[in-house]
Amino acid sequence: MKTKEDYINLLKSAGVWDPVGDYEKIYNQYNFTEAGQDDPKAVKEFEADIHERCNRIPLEHIVGYAELNSNRYVVGTGVFIPRIQSLGIVDWIKENQAIDPSSLVYDLCSGSGAIGIEIWQMTNANIVCIEKSDLATKYLKRNILRHHAEKVAVYQGDIKEYFDKMLQKPVEAEIVISNPPYVPKEMAQPPEWGVHHPEESVYAEQDGLDIINASALFANRALKKDGVVLIEHDENQGESVSAILASNNFYNIQTIINEKYSDETGLSIFTIGYKL
Ligand SMILES: C[S@@+](CC[C@H](N)C(=O)[O-])C[C@H]1O[C@@H](n2cnc3c(N)ncnc32)[C@H](O)[C@@H]1O
Repeated sequence: MKTKEDYINLLKSAGVWDPVGDYEKIYNQYNFTEAGQDDPKAVKEFEADIHERCNRIPLEHIVGYAELNSNRYVVGTGVFIPRIQSLGIVDWIKENQAIDPSSLVYDLCSGSGAIGIEIWQMTNANIVCIEKSDLATKYLKRNILRHHAEKVAVYQGDIKEYFDKMLQKPVEAEIVISNPPYVPKEMAQPPEWGVHHPEESVYAEQDGLDIINASALFANRALKKDGVVLIEHDENQGESVSAILASNNFYNIQTIINEKYSDETGLSIFTIGYKL
């Protein structure tokens, strides 16, 4: 086995932004001893994990989970990895919006379900997650099961078609959140997102605004008066998202940056609006 510094240097030269943190997360999965007399099979597996990370396979896909607050969410190849940036939305709801166990919250483009489950844990509200991808929906259902989140319901499908396909008219909601794909098609991304995430979880048509538009239309239809929509987006999209919300019957529109959940991989940034 090489030294710790050797592995960290390998990760650093591959362009990994947190080589020490990633090394430790991978290393801590194994029961290696200080004496160095380790099971050769375990060493081989550990080195395979490091090799994958050097090839910019996302850390969470390698270890099989992502952590938000103290919760683990299972993820794997083919599903978007929840980001701490999304906790900006969860904190905003905690501080600004009174919701209770009878409230209805939609989590649009819910992926593995982390944001919806975080909001359910905090409020015990009824959550409806809407996700298009088959694979992401499988992870979403696993995460609901793991967290005993019985009040989190799943609808697998396109948010653009939800209202046409639902037989029953949905009850009016208090909150609609959305972390949609929003990267413009031509914008280069680090390989973790540009190569190793499904394209439809990262990129969107119309300069990245297609699913943001669909989320605003959805929220306009689903929210009760004074209900809130919160949409995550890129740091350059604040004005466009505000304009989209203004043209969909929202008032008191604000773009919010949460420093606590911003890091070297991006700002925690989202735009909110209240339904007229
Ligand atoms: C940026 S990811 C966010 C996932 C999750 N909200 C999170 O933060 O981990 C966007 C998700 O939207 C889903 N998606 C893309 N277009 C969609 C659509 N039209 N309707 C529903 N889901 C969609 C993708 O499959 C992906 O899981």
